[in-house]
Amino acid sequence: MPVKPPIFWKDRDEILILDQRKLPRKEQYISCKNIRQVINAIKKLAIRGAPAIGLAIAMGLALEAQRLQAKNIGEFVRKFDKLCKTASTARPTAVNLLWAIERMRAVIIENPEADIEFLKKSLWEVSEKIREENIVLDAAIGKHGEVVIEDGMNVLTYCNTGTLATGGSGTALGIIRTAWRKGKRIHVYVCETRPLLQGGRLTVWELLNDNVPMTLITDNAAGYLMESKIINLVIVGADRIATNGDTANKVGTYSLAVLAKENGIPFYVAAPLSTFDPTIKKGLEIPIEIRDPREVTHVNGKKIAPDGVNAYNPAFDITPSKYITGIVTENGIARRPLSRSLRQLLIKH
Ligand code: MRU
Repeated sequence: MPVKPPIFWKDRDEILILDQRKLPRKEQYISCKNIRQVINAIKKLAIRGAPAIGLAIAMGLALEAQRLQAKNIGEFVRKFDKLCKTASTARPTAVNLLWAIERMRAVIIENPEADIEFLKKSLWEVSEKIREENIVLDAAIGKHGEVVIEDGMNVLTYCNTGTLATGGSGTALGIIRTAWRKGKRIHVYVCETRPLLQGGRLTVWELLNDNVPMTLITDNAAGYLMESKIINLVIVGADRIATNGDTANKVGTYSLAVLAKENGIPFYVAAPLSTFDPTIKKGLEIPIEIRDPREVTHVNGKKIAPDGVNAYNPAFDITPSKYITGIVTENGIARRPLSRSLRQLLIKH
């Protein structure tokens, strides 16, 4: 049974978001009738994963545009721009959020003579286009990336990069799915991904749905498995990639990359080109989201740390490009030296 889409239109005035905080125990939907509710769902991680965040904000803007009251086009544009500004603060690291907002703003910029009704319709259509594109892009990433997985390999992955994170077959998980569907006998090792367990709750749920053989491990076990020659390949997703190939992804990715290099294991990143940030040259310029310390001190709403304990909760880290074997995109695989190879793939974009 295919995994349900993370977000969809119920009607032109209502979006439903599958609440990923409740998975896999409960399949519960959040009804959003305005952009404030969509932004809240993004902030709280009810919907998450870089491409899904971009999609959600585009749909949220389209939803709110339908409700916008304006006496004239100037007022409509001013109000829409204000919405875009608010939307851009939902989460700081995944650049797909800003990319999707720019796609929506382009509708207004490219149609200076249009009337309000035309803009409302076009904004809705662009959000739908982004949703459809995510499916196509994931399929292309899967096709280009599956060649790095050989028959019989044990593949380690991190966080959740599947349908729940994109609306398509996924990026890193899409590659794994494609290899499996092509008949390659693979085994996937899924890191739990503390503190919010996107691996232990979401990725294993998706792989179980597809009957892909897999084993869940604690994040701290990854080094031991690599050193023991159990892992042949690592594939992860990305939230923002600098022009030199440095990559921001779920915190803990950097440690996996260093361990992979130390053990001679290829380390791949998979992401659509919308995850590249042409304005950022090096990874250390990428803003890293710092989340509520309670995500560390509490599990499932239950406190596990003693009272008075300080916790620090960066949600992402930066993997320098020197640790990355290749970056799989919809236009092909960027190989080392990554900056040159990425430039060539972006030209095809
Ligand atoms: O905090 P999250 O769950 O949004 O973090 C998600 C990740 O780090 C993913 O690896 C990344 O967004 C890629 S999803 C295709």
